[in-house]
Amino acid sequence: MRLAIVGDVHERWDEQDSALLDAQGYDGVLFVGDLANYTVKGGLATARRIATLKTPAWLIPGNHDAVDQGQLAAEVVPALGFLRGLLDGGMAERVAALREALAPVVLVGYELHDLGGLCLLATRPHSAGGPRVTYPRYMQETFGVADMDDSARRLCGLVDQATAPLVVLGHNGPAGLGEAPSSICGRDFGRGGGDWGDPDLRAALDHAHATGKPVRAVVFGHMHRALRGGGRRQWTVRREGCLFVNAAQVPRRRKGKGRHHVLLEVGVEASAKDVWL
Ligand SMILES: [Fe+2]
Repeated sequence: MRLAIVGDVHERWDEQDSALLDAQGYDGVLFVGDLANYTVKGGLATARRIATLKTPAWLIPGNHDAVDQGQLAAEVVPALGFLRGLLDGGMAERVAALREALAPVVLVGYELHDLGGLCLLATRPHSAGGPRVTYPRYMQETFGVADMDDSARRLCGLVDQATAPLVVLGHNGPAGLGEAPSSICGRDFGRGGGDWGDPDLRAALDHAHATGKPVRAVVFGHMHRALRGGGRRQWTVRREGCLFVNAAQVPRRRKGKGRHHVLLEVGVEASAKDVWL
């Protein structure tokens, strides 16, 4: 199976992107989220352009999607942390509007989809990485997820239901792969250093391993490949037969190179390569 993985779009998508990707004849397209930059309007306009894709496609929302600037600031600016959750009112309606704008591309979160011989597991939507559940009021009201343990239980339940080898789609990658700022999920902001992977996704992967459920690949973005302070992030890691792919080439359009996606080929083993069209 050949899948395109599209990293954080941040509004860089037009109908030519859809046409170029459709022409590749892939089996599917997985979007790791962050269509928007800092406005709901920009995210919706991007979603409408992505909706012109004819290849079957799935998208997990990122921390920039269907949120207003106050909400996002409350999550990522430590001094505004006291506002977390208080500004989440209306987010369910914003997500519904995004879902509608994206159709037929499917907006996913905490669910399994049949890819034909593989099972797509969509993880916790809107993750901003690290130890806390982002947008806590929305997550509680929509999914009944109050904390990381709730989220881990929910993801482990999905692993139990899977009837085929898994491909996992998240906005952010799992904890356990962030040894250095340049690691695939390493923290390169703030004071830098430390693992910025999602603990709930780590728990789900450990559960899959313990219960003999094969995970062929885990694909995500969020942690941009270009590091603050210079240098490039490691973007693939293979552990215990599973390929981890960070697709966050940002910006995804580059003069002289074209438009970026990752080609993920999944057989008994998965392989990934950067493609510029
Ligand atoms: Fe993000």
